[in-house]
Amino acid sequence: MGQYEEAFRESLENPDLFWGKAAEEIFWDKHWESVLDASNPPFYRWFTGGVLNTCYNAVDRHVNGGRADQIALIYDSPVTNTIQKFTYAQLQTRVARIAGFLRELGVAQGDTVVIYMPMIPEALMAMLACARIGAVHSVVFGGFAPRELAIRIDDAKPKAVLSASCGIEGKKIIPYKPLLDEAIALAAHKPTKCIIYQRPQVHADLIEEQDLDWLSLEQRAHPADCVPVAATAPLYILYTSGTTGKPKGVVRDNGGHAVALHWTMKHIYGVKPGDLFWAASDVGWVVGHSYIVYGPLLLGATTVMYEGKPVGTPDPGAFWRVISQHEVNVLFTAPTAFRAIKKEDPNGNHLKRYDLSHFQALFLAGERTDPDTYYWASGLLEKPVIDHWWQTETGWAIAGNFCGLEFLPIKPGSATKPMPGYDVRILDPSSGRELERGQSGVIVVKLPLPPGTFSTLWQRDDDFKTTYFDLFSGYYFTGDGGYIDEDGYIFVMGRVDDIINVAGHRLSTGEMEEIVAQHPDVAECAVIGVADSLKGEVPLGFIVLKAGVNRDHREIISEVLQMVRKEIGAIASLKNVVVVNRLPKTRSGKILRSTMRQIADGQEYKVPSTIDDPVILQEIESAIKATERM
Ligand code: COA
Ligand code: AMP
Repeated sequence: MGQYEEAFRESLENPDLFWGKAAEEIFWDKHWESVLDASNPPFYRWFTGGVLNTCYNAVDRHVNGGRADQIALIYDSPVTNTIQKFTYAQLQTRVARIAGFLRELGVAQGDTVVIYMPMIPEALMAMLACARIGAVHSVVFGGFAPRELAIRIDDAKPKAVLSASCGIEGKKIIPYKPLLDEAIALAAHKPTKCIIYQRPQVHADLIEEQDLDWLSLEQRAHPADCVPVAATAPLYILYTSGTTGKPKGVVRDNGGHAVALHWTMKHIYGVKPGDLFWAASDVGWVVGHSYIVYGPLLLGATTVMYEGKPVGTPDPGAFWRVISQHEVNVLFTAPTAFRAIKKEDPNGNHLKRYDLSHFQALFLAGERTDPDTYYWASGLLEKPVIDHWWQTETGWAIAGNFCGLEFLPIKPGSATKPMPGYDVRILDPSSGRELERGQSGVIVVKLPLPPGTFSTLWQRDDDFKTTYFDLFSGYYFTGDGGYIDEDGYIFVMGRVDDIINVAGHRLSTGEMEEIVAQHPDVAECAVIGVADSLKGEVPLGFIVLKAGVNRDHREIISEVLQMVRKEIGAIASLKNVVVVNRLPKTRSGKILRSTMRQIADGQEYKVPSTIDDPVILQEIESAIKATERM
């Protein structure tokens, strides 16, 4: 039996032994009483009775253990022409002071703090500072519009909000303070204080009663010590798109999270303490939480925080420059970033300017790595290119390959094999029956999920159960469809619900529909995801106008696009809306989204037998063609 097979079997047959061993790598203030508490499914709990502090494990432990002068964080920002390095000791000083001012402002263990920040070191420090005092952070991606931020403020009810004066998006400077003020005005819950980090590019005007200047507070603050918390206490909430307009607050615990991430750094990514790990993502996404911040630091590696794009900052050689300059060992990003580089530099000419001799492997996630991108990237880099599949809910990979355990042969288009702890199965969506190898169905994971996966949805235990566990009893429903081949390789082919992945960003078409439907001229609408050669998928809207509306369609379309951009943010990337007379529906009134998608993607499609009027499909086809000509 290979090392992978052995680890996988042990993790399922004896999770206490497997994860108990992994947990020995973490510093515990009090040893756990049980590894897995399965007394209240699906609310499985890991390391109950254990007490630890995640910030201690990610920072102080390394300072005390001989890594005080090792670089913990490299901030590389081509958009501001800055490179800054922080040793573990320097990181400890800053984090302890930020934790200090939070405590002085009345933030206590169990309180929530919203972090709405760009990709600057202070964002990472803010997360660790919350963890240090046992406060629960909720990072909101800086590209979200005020309404999205307000929804999250109302759900998380933060005592404080940490923000900055601006974000920098390529060549655009985006003042954050007006967005934050608008969000607070929209939200019913009002945080006690907002702490603003003033960046040199924009000075934010502070509101006397509401805002405080970050650096002044930090200078005056008394450093705070790490507060030991229960392994099962929440470390953070991270909102992710569901099928409705209300995002779901994924809750991560402290103990299982630290154990699982530490294990993944060594075994999946093959990284050692002192190595250089770069996740080119954003702290607003789960990849940023797990692999810009917690994973590399828990291991004692050096993490890179990159404020830039794969192209245009300044050229498609940007990633190679960062890898070469900082001697990065492992890069983790989304396939879309590589498609963007390929589009601008198909022959990889920019790569020739750099020495990538330290580089070991490229990991891709966020969407399926299509075989074209796989072959292009692996041909160019001549290093392993590894697709691995995961979700905000799981916090780490469900399937992938192992640079630090046993490197399995790659099958392009597949996310390789299930990770230890994940008993992945394929079920028939209608009967719930388990399917044979090679047959496509919905992908589920037999319970329990491993440590580090979500423990609940913030303040919504019932929704946690109904959304993920009630559909197929005894299984976690991933929302993805696909199959497992005869060799046990997993092929994840896409979502089976109304979620789409646009440039690695997870978005809800249902939410977009809720916004589009608010336009006064719109009677009915549908938003679907269609294939896009750069972003993987982009949304496409269909609107049916109310009877009697005879305004110029282009004007209405432009208003609809603006509404979605304003309400969700530019990342929604809704650029096309088609006006149709009717939407294709089944006789019971269900919109035939998958058929619409096939039409929009130019694929062969079968007219569904349940359709109420097949002629509509031809109308849809002509409307799409007419829009393409516009
Ligand atoms: N703040 C404000 N606006 C933001 C933003 C942020 N943090 N991030 C993106 N936006 C805006 C963009 O400026 C763009 O605005 P525009 O419509 O006015 O041009 C819009 O949102 C769409 O952004 P994006 O989807 O990122 O497209 P892009 O064309 O700017 O860039 C890529 C395309 C592929 C280069 C880019 O998506 C990328 O680097 N992706 C990497 C994926 C990634 O990191 N995923 C995280 C999971 S691993
Ligand atoms: P998020 O929660 O934003 O990380 O998005 C999770 C979703 O992204 C998954 O449910 C998948 O639909 C998709 N996804 C992420 N990684 C992969 C991958 N490697 N292959 C296929 N789909 C992926």
